[in-house]
Amino acid sequence: MSRMKLSETFSLLSTAGLTALAILMAVPGASAQGTQLPQIDFPIPPVFQIPPADQQCILKGQRLDLQCIIKNDPDAKRVRAEEAKLEAQALAAAKSAKLDPYHQVETLGELEIFDPKLSVNKNIACSYCHDPAAGYANGVSILSVFTGGSNPGSVPITVHGAYPNNRIAKRNPQSYVYATYFPPLHFNQSQADFYGGNFWDGRATGYKLQNSAAEQAQDPPLDPEEMANPDPACVVWKLSRSNYKFFFEQVFGVGSLEINWPSDVATICSTPKGAAVLGGNPTPLQLSPSDRTLASKDFDEFAQAIAAYESSDSVSPFTSKFDYFLAGKATLTTQEQNGYDLFRGKGSCNTCHLDGRSSTQLGGADTGQAASVQPLFTDTTYNNIGLPKNVRLPWYSEDTPDQWGFTGNPLGFGFTDEGMGLFLDGYYGARSGRQGCKSRKVEVLSLSIACIRTDSISGACGGNEARSART
Ligand code: HEC
Ligand code: HEC
Repeated sequence: MSRMKLSETFSLLSTAGLTALAILMAVPGASAQGTQLPQIDFPIPPVFQIPPADQQCILKGQRLDLQCIIKNDPDAKRVRAEEAKLEAQALAAAKSAKLDPYHQVETLGELEIFDPKLSVNKNIACSYCHDPAAGYANGVSILSVFTGGSNPGSVPITVHGAYPNNRIAKRNPQSYVYATYFPPLHFNQSQADFYGGNFWDGRATGYKLQNSAAEQAQDPPLDPEEMANPDPACVVWKLSRSNYKFFFEQVFGVGSLEINWPSDVATICSTPKGAAVLGGNPTPLQLSPSDRTLASKDFDEFAQAIAAYESSDSVSPFTSKFDYFLAGKATLTTQEQNGYDLFRGKGSCNTCHLDGRSSTQLGGADTGQAASVQPLFTDTTYNNIGLPKNVRLPWYSEDTPDQWGFTGNPLGFGFTDEGMGLFLDGYYGARSGRQGCKSRKVEVLSLSIACIRTDSISGACGGNEARSART
């Protein structure tokens, strides 16, 4: 499908009976241009019940008081309670001295992923946006309905009357299940397309560590909208004060976290990234060159341990019924078989969501062999699937400075999420040799296999699409 033109995609989708979707996609002008935020009032899906505790958090025009949600929403509370429990379990495993070296690295990653103290305000862990109970994606249902699924980060916005009243990123959290199976981003000459990388736009390239997921893990700790640490060394400082410091040094070497910290380390590390006082300095902590090198090495290892956990059996297990089916160890029910026939036939889904089998879209029987009995349901490329702007994203309103003098989205509603084009165009500050590449490609997500089996397709969610509620 990555080789297919967009027009061909449309006709395929129409034949699949997805006419409404095709119409939506065929009208790119439907994504409103300009900077004026349109009316954001919208109907609440009938299947979604607003939790009573959240009623008080809903402002005029279906806007959310995010600080109120963080404090009161039952899902948000559940996620934090679960993460504390998992953190305690991982710590007990680390202390047990029973783990082999392989599982030590994974467990270290687990300790890091569930540790809220690694964020600037010590209030959000990775798992806050990647809830194990929701397939490691957003587990706070009210956000799925009201904010396009985007999750608030570590920093509240206290400017009087500001909306949103918490920094909140522009996209919906992806699941990190199977994320480590994406190779480093590369351009495939014969296919004339980009493959691999992590994030919706592939900007976690993996070129340095040769591991996209590891490089991905270095992003949220420093993203001003997420965990907002002002300096990568702040993450290392926090690791050096954590109750699993011993374990980090057990895995990566004694003395790894012995760094001479400057006297203002606590002040600097509690100042959110993007704060005007930092003057745009990406490494405001004053460290000696050798300490800086050590901290960078620690930050790489911190990330590699996270990738190890993400690829561990507890996160990416390849144990779905579909995996067993392809391996010839399970049989599908009639309904499942019908769905699967559509998926690789008329629906043409497996031309992007590779299932290791051939497509029967053009008629005939599937005589293909499973190339892999562990298909990822993605070709790891990026496709423009024509989503309009999702006006529910509070991101579009983050166009005025917060109390730190930081403006998340100076373009306001003028911001267009071009997916991979954004990254290639240098939006993130990376040097780009490909000016003008406006591809609006979005990563082909590995389908959580449950989607096929149960039909509970959760809503394909780049930042520009609303996510249906998980209830
Ligand atoms: C405030 C919410 C938030 C926090 C905290 C957060 N993430 Fe994410 N995560 C997201 C969003 C949003 C995306 C998609 C972002 C994008 O494409 O720009 C994402 C994407 C990812 C991906 C990419 C998956 C793929 O298939 O490409 C991985 C892996 C991931 N996060 C892991 C982590 C880890 C590890 C941490 C902690 C170090 C973390 N996240 C913290 C919201 C969050
Ligand atoms: C042109 C390539 C392409 C085809 C064909 C395609 N998809 Fe997708 N699909 C994508 C991309 C890209 C995404 C992720 C981007 C997004 O959600 O914004 C996605 C996401 C999804 C998701 C969400 C996964 C998740 O974990 O949130 C589901 C479910 C899905 N597709 C099902 C299907 C089904 C069913 C079909 C066939 C009727 C299909 N797709 C055909 C490209 C494709």
